[in-house]
Amino acid sequence: MSTPEEKYSKGKSPLRRALFLGPHTCPWWFGYSFDNPLRRFVHDPVAILGEFVAPGQTVVDIGCGLGYFSLALAKLVGPSGRVVALDVQPQMVRRARSRAKCQGLADRIDFHICTPNRLGLTNPVDFVLAFWVVHEVADPEGLLNEVSSFLRPHGRLLIAEPKGHVSAARFAATVELAHSVGYHISEGPLVRFSRTVVCSPLHGEDRPKGPIDDFTP
Ligand SMILES: C[S@@+](CC[C@H](N)C(=O)[O-])C[C@H]1O[C@@H](n2cnc3c(N)ncnc32)[C@H](O)[C@@H]1O
Repeated sequence: MSTPEEKYSKGKSPLRRALFLGPHTCPWWFGYSFDNPLRRFVHDPVAILGEFVAPGQTVVDIGCGLGYFSLALAKLVGPSGRVVALDVQPQMVRRARSRAKCQGLADRIDFHICTPNRLGLTNPVDFVLAFWVVHEVADPEGLLNEVSSFLRPHGRLLIAEPKGHVSAARFAATVELAHSVGYHISEGPLVRFSRTVVCSPLHGEDRPKGPIDDFTP
């Protein structure tokens, strides 16, 4: 019987197998290429997330990487809020946790190592961020379904994908998938080098039947 790691690594290059990485998973050391002190000039977290997050909320950062947005989310939810930060790579989670400790924010953030196909969350949350991660996920439909199972009825999922890796057509397919899974789709904020969409879960009668009305990726 193979372990989940062995199953996940099947068919990958020996280096990627050794590092336990999927075909597109960003290696932890590459995280520093975009998560560096200059990033705040490009991705101002308050400008990107401020309209979605309020003090006291519970929010999730999927594919938290080195924690750039997890730390910003922890400041936005304040001492009475919670951030759940998840990543498949233990090295990312370790570094993100140590950054949180240095900034005195560790007591507001629950760091978890998730599996490639399951986040493992059940408690309701107000907001979910998936920044530059959906294109790395092997089963985006499973991810979108799992998120809708724990996102509060008025909660929102913000997906941002990197323009360099994700074409307009590929992003449109992700948006279409989110729509078919049962999310209401609306335009996301302007984020440099990114394509964005905001997805809100719809339930029962409200679930979409036809195509998406108004969306330009
Ligand atoms: C390009 S990095 C972005 C990191 C972070 N969101 C940021 O913007 O700084 C993508 C991250 O997603 C993680 N990842 C890839 N597949 C994942 C999955 N199925 N579930 C959770 N995290 C995943 C990778 O390990 C990596 O840390």
